[in-house]
Amino acid sequence: MNIRIRWHIKVIGVIYLKVLVTGATGQLGSALLRQLKNTDYQVKITSRRKPENVNFEWVYCDFLTGEGLEEAVSNIDVVIHAATSPIKDSDIIDVLGFKKFLDMTQQIKHFIYPSIVGIEDIPMKYYRNKYQAEELLKNSTVPHTIVRATQFHSFVENIFLSKPLFKRYLVPGDIKIQSVDVDEFAAHLIQTINVGPQGKTEDFAGPEILTLREMAELKIKVNNESSKVASFPFPGKLYRALLDGRNTNDLRKVGKVTFEEFLIAKGN
Ligand SMILES: NC(=O)c1ccc[n+]([C@@H]2O[C@H](COP(=O)([O-])OP(=O)(O)OC[C@H]3O[C@@H](n4cnc5c(N)ncnc54)[C@H](OP(=O)(O)O)[C@@H]3O)[C@@H](O)[C@H]2O)c1
Repeated sequence: MNIRIRWHIKVIGVIYLKVLVTGATGQLGSALLRQLKNTDYQVKITSRRKPENVNFEWVYCDFLTGEGLEEAVSNIDVVIHAATSPIKDSDIIDVLGFKKFLDMTQQIKHFIYPSIVGIEDIPMKYYRNKYQAEELLKNSTVPHTIVRATQFHSFVENIFLSKPLFKRYLVPGDIKIQSVDVDEFAAHLIQTINVGPQGKTEDFAGPEILTLREMAELKIKVNNESSKVASFPFPGKLYRALLDGRNTNDLRKVGKVTFEEFLIAKGN
């Protein structure tokens, strides 16, 4: 193929693709924006709060009420859907609002849906909602890719290890976690734009499976803290699923950045 034709294909097929990122202020959304700045895609973003220092076209969008959704998807080729609400109104935002949004994206070329490893085996309402959203997408006619990742390093740190209480990290120390770097996952999703719709793909999991106790100990070591770890079990199926590592995938250790490297890069 001569260089001129190849250049035309690049211009038509890649450079001018219009990509919508929902949830632009979130952990994944922010990582996507940092990397999309260095690409030639035309990028539109949505959230309720306007992200600072970002030059992309921004549309106010609320998945609870549906406000802004139609404007957001107009003239878009690819959606990376990173808007979510794990705690508040998840039934609406992650399922009903998601369905309404999906119905509006019938004309797009590719809907990329980040999901979570093991959701069908972990009894949590948010995970059931994510599974329902996956099913809605699978049963739709919208060309799509579903990529499940394990928990992000930053998420695990924020949820369980943000601050010691009286010099103790009080955690369910025996649960297993295979956390992954959010920037690596964002890069993988951006590569997925070029690859095109693939349906449900292989999991994107972190480089090592640790117990939460080991992760807390790493934080203490890296930050040179005098804190200790106090571990507690909690009753129920959720705890057992996490003890069994249902949120991990030993065969898909594709992330490279370890939790320790993440902590070192982040600093105190
Ligand atoms: N966190 C993890 O460890 C992890 C692991 C694997 C996969 N994932 C998946 O990755 C995706 C992104 O997760 P994340 O951790 O980046 O989420 P996050 O940090 O909680 O961010 C959620 C985003 O959704 C937006 N949002 C919340 N409520 C909204 C509403 N009513 N209408 C419109 N936008 C709303 C928020 O922005 P505003 O509040 O400004 O609207 C924010 O930008 C999710 O699908 C999640 O399941 C996450």
